Amino acid sequence: MSSNGLELLDRTVGCGEVSEADAEAGREVVLTGWVHRRRDLGQLIFIEVRDRTGSVQVVFDPSENAEAHKDAEQLRAEYVVGIRGVVRPREQPNPEHPTGMVEVRGHQVALHNRATHVPIQVDDETEASEEIRLKYRYVDLRRPKVQQPLFLRHRLGRAARGVLDGQGFVEVETPMLTRSTPEGARDYLVPSRVHPGKFYALPQSPQLFKQLLMVSGFEKYFQFVRCFRDEDLRADRQPEFTQIDIEMSFATPEKIYGLLEEMVATMFAEIGVKIERPFRRMPYDEAMRRFGIDRPDLRFGMEIQDPGDSVEGTGFRVFDGAIDAGGMVRGIVAPGAASSSSRKVLDGWQEQAKRAGAGGLVWIKLEEGKISSPALKALGEERCKAIAEALGATTGDVALLVADSREICERVLGTLRLSIASELDLIPADRWELCWVEDFPLLEWDEDAGRFVAKHHPFTAPRWDELDKLAEDPGSVRAQAYDLVLNGTEIAGGSIRIHRKDVQDRVFRALGIDEEEAEDKFGFLLGALAAGAPPHGGIAVGFDRTCALLSGCESIRDVIAFPKTTSASCLMTESPSAVDEAQLKELHLKVLDPGPSDKDKEGDR
Ligand code: AMO
Repeated sequence: MSSNGLELLDRTVGCGEVSEADAEAGREVVLTGWVHRRRDLGQLIFIEVRDRTGSVQVVFDPSENAEAHKDAEQLRAEYVVGIRGVVRPREQPNPEHPTGMVEVRGHQVALHNRATHVPIQVDDETEASEEIRLKYRYVDLRRPKVQQPLFLRHRLGRAARGVLDGQGFVEVETPMLTRSTPEGARDYLVPSRVHPGKFYALPQSPQLFKQLLMVSGFEKYFQFVRCFRDEDLRADRQPEFTQIDIEMSFATPEKIYGLLEEMVATMFAEIGVKIERPFRRMPYDEAMRRFGIDRPDLRFGMEIQDPGDSVEGTGFRVFDGAIDAGGMVRGIVAPGAASSSSRKVLDGWQEQAKRAGAGGLVWIKLEEGKISSPALKALGEERCKAIAEALGATTGDVALLVADSREICERVLGTLRLSIASELDLIPADRWELCWVEDFPLLEWDEDAGRFVAKHHPFTAPRWDELDKLAEDPGSVRAQAYDLVLNGTEIAGGSIRIHRKDVQDRVFRALGIDEEEAEDKFGFLLGALAAGAPPHGGIAVGFDRTCALLSGCESIRDVIAFPKTTSASCLMTESPSAVDEAQLKELHLKVLDPGPSDKDKEGDR
C-alpha cells in the first residue's frame, strides 16, 4: 500500500467532475470517495469511484504501475479510498454516463477504510425495503437518488433566505424548551429535573415568540425553525418538521402575499420553473363549494356541481329525504369513465364515499344508447339523463351524486374527486397551481368539546368589520387568515394577529377561555399586548412539504436526512426508547403503563 491509509491524499476534483478537457490535457488528478463497483478483467482492474458529485472509472494496469495494481486487488465495494492517476480518453467510451468519455489511469491507492458490513446496495435501484433503508439510513443516504433531494433542499433554503435577507428580515432564534403553543396538536413534553412535576413543551410553532418580537420592535423576523407536533402522521407530516417562520409589523395580507410570492417564485427558479404572479386567490367558501376541500388541487377540473331542479320532486327517497332535511344533492363527473368503470370499480367508489361519511353514492353511467344506474327504476331513464347532464356529463361519462348535508356532500365529493382523478390519471404531473385560500371562518364548532375552537390558532385576528358579531354569532365571523396551497397541499399558513388586549380577551371568551385560564396560560402575551403592541401579522411555510413537492418526492421523509416513521419512531437510533430507573427518578417520574414492547410494534413505518 502506498500509504498506511491514514494519510490523506489531497483531492483535486470531484469524481463526477472529471472532464474531457482533463483527458485532453492528460491531467493528473486525485480522487477521494468510495469504491462503487469493481471489475477484474484478468490483467486490468476497473474501479468505479464515487463521491457526492458522481462517479468515474479508474483503470489499474500492471504494466503501467505494478504497485498500484496490487493495491487495487484488495479493493471491494464501499471501501474508502484516495486515488491518484492521470485522466485519459476512454478506450470504449460510454456516452450514457456523465463521465463516460474519460477514465483515470490509477497510479496510487490510499485505502482509508474497509467496509465489512454494507446492508444496502448503494445503487439508484435498490431492492431493500423502506424499513431496512431507514434502519441503515447512513448507507441509504449514500445513494445519489437519496442525496439529490437534500442538495435541492439546501438550495431552496438558500434562495428563501436570500429573499428574506434582501427585504430586511432578521433571523432570530426562539426557545425550544417552552410552554404549550396551541396549534391544534398534542405537545411533546420535557420533564424538568429542577422543578419536580413540571414540564416544558417543545414548540408546535414559535407563534407567540414571533409576536413578542414584534412587540419588541424587530419589525421583520424570520427563522428556519424546528416545530414539534404529536399528531397522526401521514406522507406529508412528521412529528418534527421545519417551518420558515415569518412575522412583520404593520403587516397587511397584501404585504405578506407579496413577500411570499417573491420567495416562492425564487425557490421555483431553483428548479427552472417560472411561476406567474400574482397567485390566484379563492375564498374558503368557494373552495369548499367547488372542490370540497380548503386546499383545492387546481391542476384538473371535475368540480362539484349543483344539479339544480333536476333532482327536485323526483319521488326518489334518497334525494327527497336529504332535501327535506335541509340538505342537498351534489355531484361530480368522472369523464370518460363509463367504459372502464366495472361493477367492481363502482363498488369501490361507493365504499370510499361511505368511508368519507356518506350514506351512499348514486351513479349514473351514460353509454352510447344506454343509461345505467342503481336509481334507474326510481328515477326513470329521462330523469337520470337530465340529472347527469345537469352535472355536465355527456356520453362516455359517469355522474356520481351524494345526497346529504352540505358538509358531507362537500367532504365526500372532495375526497372522490381526488382519488378518481388519480385513478383515471387526470392529474397532470408537470403543472404547478398555486392559490391563496382566504376568508376562513375564525372559529369552528367542536362536537366533542361542545364549544367553538380556533380554526387556525387563538391569536388570529377576526375581520375588523365582523368583530361585533363575535358575541352573538361567533360561527359566522371570518378570520384575517390565509393559506397558500400548491397542487392540493397546504404549503404555508398565516394570519394578521390580534394586537389589542381587549380584542384578544373577546376572542378568548368566544373560545370559552375565561379570564383566569387566559391569565394562567397566556398572561405574558396579554401583558405584551398591553405594553404597546404594533399591528402585526405573518405566515409560516412548511419547508419540508415545499421541498418534497419541488423535488418531486412522494413523502416528506425523502427531504429529511433522518426522518421518523409514521409511528413517530426512528428505526436507526431506535428512539423513542426506555430510560433507566435512575434517570426517571432524577426526573421525578414513574412509568405506570410501559405499553406494548417494540417487538409487537415492528413493521410500522
Ligand atoms: P400551521 O400550523 O399552518 O401554522 O403550519 C404552517 C405550515 O407548516 C406545515 N406543517 C407541517 N409540515 C410537516 N409536518 C407537520 N406535522 C406539519 N404541520 C404543519 C404546513 C403548514 O402550512 N404558527 C402558525 C403560522 C402563522 O400563523 O404564522 C402555524 O404554525 O405546510
